[in-house]
Amino acid sequence: MAIGVFDSGVGGLTVHHRLVERFPKADFVYLADQANAPYGGRPGEEIVELTKAGCERLFREGCDLIVLACNTASGIALRRLQQTWLPGLRRDLGRPVNILGIIVPTIEAATGLPWEHEAERRGDKVEKLDVLAVFSTPATAKSRVYEIEIDKRRQDVAVFSEPCPNLATLIEQGATASVLAAEIEGHVAKITARIGRAPDRAILGCTHYEIVADIFRAALKPGTPVIHQPVATADALTRYLERHPEFDPGAYGGRRFLTTGKPGLQPALTQTFWGAPISFEPA
Ligand code: DGL
Repeated sequence: MAIGVFDSGVGGLTVHHRLVERFPKADFVYLADQANAPYGGRPGEEIVELTKAGCERLFREGCDLIVLACNTASGIALRRLQQTWLPGLRRDLGRPVNILGIIVPTIEAATGLPWEHEAERRGDKVEKLDVLAVFSTPATAKSRVYEIEIDKRRQDVAVFSEPCPNLATLIEQGATASVLAAEIEGHVAKITARIGRAPDRAILGCTHYEIVADIFRAALKPGTPVIHQPVATADALTRYLERHPEFDPGAYGGRRFLTTGKPGLQPALTQTFWGAPISFEPA
């Protein structure tokens, strides 16, 4: 079998690359839904349908386990697909299949707690000392998934989300470092004004932002720890595969890349995400 990795576009390659480093012998199929990207400004129902179609494609390709390397798909679609679609699909296919997201691993990394942990709700007011800024697409910010899930686990952490409507598109368009820096500095200034002080930590809550992590670091207060989703996701997948031996990640080091967009060799930007040239097959 193979591990499927899905994203609306090429941002998820940052996660995929880290997974490949962690599991060099595993077989991977990456699917970029470039015909429909970006997802970040779409209504929720569309994000659910597009994510389902992408997963269907990867299951047809022989994947049993899929990682949604996209915050927008993970935050909006994952729970719905797990609850309403996967149980019937498992019966139809007669084999175990599952879809994992990247928000759970990120929250585990941000809270230092396993996902199953629920904070004990005490009546007394907790002073929130640790202020966490989440930079994401508008759809992820609107879902409030990071606020809700972190608050359940760590009442001493205050989460503030900053939607960045243009950033993933600017990155995909290959905007210059100075354009990107101006955009990112603007978002850091906005969230700092909203919080009333600089955040203590930051989550880059969109897979595209990983390749501009240095620009975020330069815009944030010096030394602000940044939580990296690719590492958090690789750690979580390692733990998951240990707990679920029924999923065999393959042994041939297969690497396939599918796109709903333009097949073939993609622009230099894709290399930046992945670290080497990639040729895409039509999905
Ligand atoms: N890669 C997506 C994410 O992590 C963002 C890009 C998009 O808007 O489709 O949220």
